[in-house]
Amino acid sequence: MSDSIAYNDAILALDRAHVLHPITEFAKHEAGADRLFVGGKGLELQLADGRSVIDGFSGLFNINVGHGRQEIGDAVAEQMRKLAYYPSFWGFANEPAALLAERLVGLLPSDRSLKHVLFTTSGSETNEANFRMAKAYHAVRGHLNKTKIISRRWAFHGATRAAVGATGIDAYHALIDRDPSHIHVAPPYCYRCEFGKTHPGCGLPCAEDLERTLAREGPDTVAAFVVEPVMGTGGIVVPPPDYFAAIADICRRNDVLLILDEVITGFGRTGRWFGMEHWDVKPDLVSLAKGISSGYLPLGAAVISDEVYETLRDKTPKGLPFMFGLTYNNHPACCAAGLANLDIIENENLVDNAREVGRYLLDQLREKFGDSPIVGEIRGIGMLAALEIVRDREAKTPFPNLADPAWIAARAFDRGLIARALFQCVGLAPPLCATTGDIDRIVATLEDIWPEAEQRFLSEAA
Ligand SMILES: Cc1ncc(COP(=O)(O)O)c(C=O)c1O
Repeated sequence: MSDSIAYNDAILALDRAHVLHPITEFAKHEAGADRLFVGGKGLELQLADGRSVIDGFSGLFNINVGHGRQEIGDAVAEQMRKLAYYPSFWGFANEPAALLAERLVGLLPSDRSLKHVLFTTSGSETNEANFRMAKAYHAVRGHLNKTKIISRRWAFHGATRAAVGATGIDAYHALIDRDPSHIHVAPPYCYRCEFGKTHPGCGLPCAEDLERTLAREGPDTVAAFVVEPVMGTGGIVVPPPDYFAAIADICRRNDVLLILDEVITGFGRTGRWFGMEHWDVKPDLVSLAKGISSGYLPLGAAVISDEVYETLRDKTPKGLPFMFGLTYNNHPACCAAGLANLDIIENENLVDNAREVGRYLLDQLREKFGDSPIVGEIRGIGMLAALEIVRDREAKTPFPNLADPAWIAARAFDRGLIARALFQCVGLAPPLCATTGDIDRIVATLEDIWPEAEQRFLSEAA
């Protein structure tokens, strides 16, 4: 036992000395990181020190089928024994990519003509690919200036060059200049409406902001508008029911392609296979990742409409290939993980479970925290939920210190629950296989720490 403690301590020392962690303060990490994960089953994660915690956030919104699924490991091992990897450049095909593409096309709503897929290994890469295809679509039609990408404040679209350009969260742009080809407009964040209006009856000024911005920039300079069906990292922002029809109409009238970033909302997270099914919206391009493989191997997918595909096929000058390619596009082992993951989602009815158990989660949160003086709003859809933390419910004043929701997440971890601070919110996104019993445990842990959180925050605010 003491040998294994010494070994784990040595691993942590190596990590502190050599591993760079995303979204982590280097100095803080070097001073004392002590969380070494060694196993997982369902919603439970095991730490090397013997503790176990319940994963209330599915890793990073992505472990839709839960931890420790043997069948995904088996499928990947079998594929790796046959053919671990060969590039798909120059038209070279492989079995898992072809089968997964067909499966995806069958799962996407059939009336939206989404039939062509490029697999990537992340959400950021997928958005890069879709932005590039959107610009190429306009270029081959002779509109060479249609290159700008519009997105929304509070959006998260990834961390690579163009994906972070589209990201509308200020912290991601600290120290490094913003890319001027990316423009941000108002989000449909009704709780914090930038125009001080209330839905319904507001006239959707957030959609009007897109129209105004297009007029200002010149529609002949804009390639695409990219949106998350439900904003995830920005605080689980569910749009009002008429929002998508309004923005789709504005895009259509201005010859601007609509890209739906379903990286979080795809594969059952919202209680439907894809977020777009909640609204009558026909995207031109769709970005997928995360739940497509539940994180067992890195996988993403850019899906394009028939109109975009046929335009690129027919109007690209002869002899010029599609000049985008990543070594690991259409990776056979990653696609094998995707296929096995989809089998689990289908066989265990996890999309229906996400809808039903997700409703229970939201009801429980509203029942237990609805009257808390530090909770401004509780919102969600499917297995996505957020509590918006405020110092004054009437005035909706956020705490000036964004570390406050992070304090709640840290305290929850000490009590055995992983929740996540989403800027001004505390977010929950349990695996889609969660039961109502799991939700009771998650909610009970938050209830445990809540009196201390209220006391601490309200005395800070006084
Ligand atoms: C909506 C959305 N798009 C894109 C990304 C980027 O995905 P990745 O981290 O796999 O590059 C994320 C990641 O959280 C996301 O939430």
